[in-house]
Amino acid sequence: MQFDEVVLGRRSIRGYKPDPVPRALVKEVIALAMRSPSSMNTQPWNFYVITGEPLNRIRAGDTERMQAGAPQSREFRIGKPFEGKHRERQIGVAKQLFSAMGIARDDKDGRQDWVMRGFRQFDAPVCVIVTYDRVLHGSDDAPGDCGAVATALVNAAKSRGLGAVINSQGIMQSPVVREHAGIAEDQVIMKSIALGWPDFSFPANAVISERKPVDEAAVFVGFGEGG
Ligand SMILES: Cc1cc2nc3c(=O)[nH]c(=O)nc-3n(C[C@H](O)[C@H](O)[C@H](O)COP(=O)(O)O)c2cc1C
Repeated sequence: MQFDEVVLGRRSIRGYKPDPVPRALVKEVIALAMRSPSSMNTQPWNFYVITGEPLNRIRAGDTERMQAGAPQSREFRIGKPFEGKHRERQIGVAKQLFSAMGIARDDKDGRQDWVMRGFRQFDAPVCVIVTYDRVLHGSDDAPGDCGAVATALVNAAKSRGLGAVINSQGIMQSPVVREHAGIAEDQVIMKSIALGWPDFSFPANAVISERKPVDEAAVFVGFGEGG
């Protein structure tokens, strides 16, 4: 696959076939992702690749805690709830997804089912938890490097015909993940990535999220007129 095909063709996949993903293929995808740049080549990232019974225990634990109204428990700062244009974009993609899934605005049960699906890692056969070395805690570089490797991982997955979605829902109850995945105490849990073979008949998988224009995001300095 050409680079443009991968980047432009990738989208978050939230519906999967039940077929297993071979360990060797996940390793190949992680090896590609690990070519990502990192601050001073520190490569602070690590990956816990979970499937089968341990993943089912995480799904069950997350579901139980979220349904019981347990507060979120993440290992990094999340800041304030989104406002203004960030909130608009958050609502924008949610509307696209609900519309694709035929979930109406007042369909509380449908919305709740959708949210719970996220806490089950979208029923994907594999979940990759990205962590970083705790000794680097306090630096913003390490979480940034995890973002870079996670993006590379979802693009590498796409290049191999796999689907993926980076998600916070999978690490909102980090103690559950830590327990069932056996995550070492010297690791900080950063991100969750659901991974598997895309179910192309699942409507939300067809959603193409919007992007703000480059001219809104990029400031060109010193180019001169038309440069
Ligand atoms: C750090 C991060 C956290 C995310 N958390 C979730 C999540 O909890 N649930 C979800 O459905 N999607 C989640 N996403 C996926 C985003 O909604 C998605 O990347 C964005 O809407 C752009 O869509 P695209 O990936 O299809 O291009 C997350 C993405 C990132 C990078």
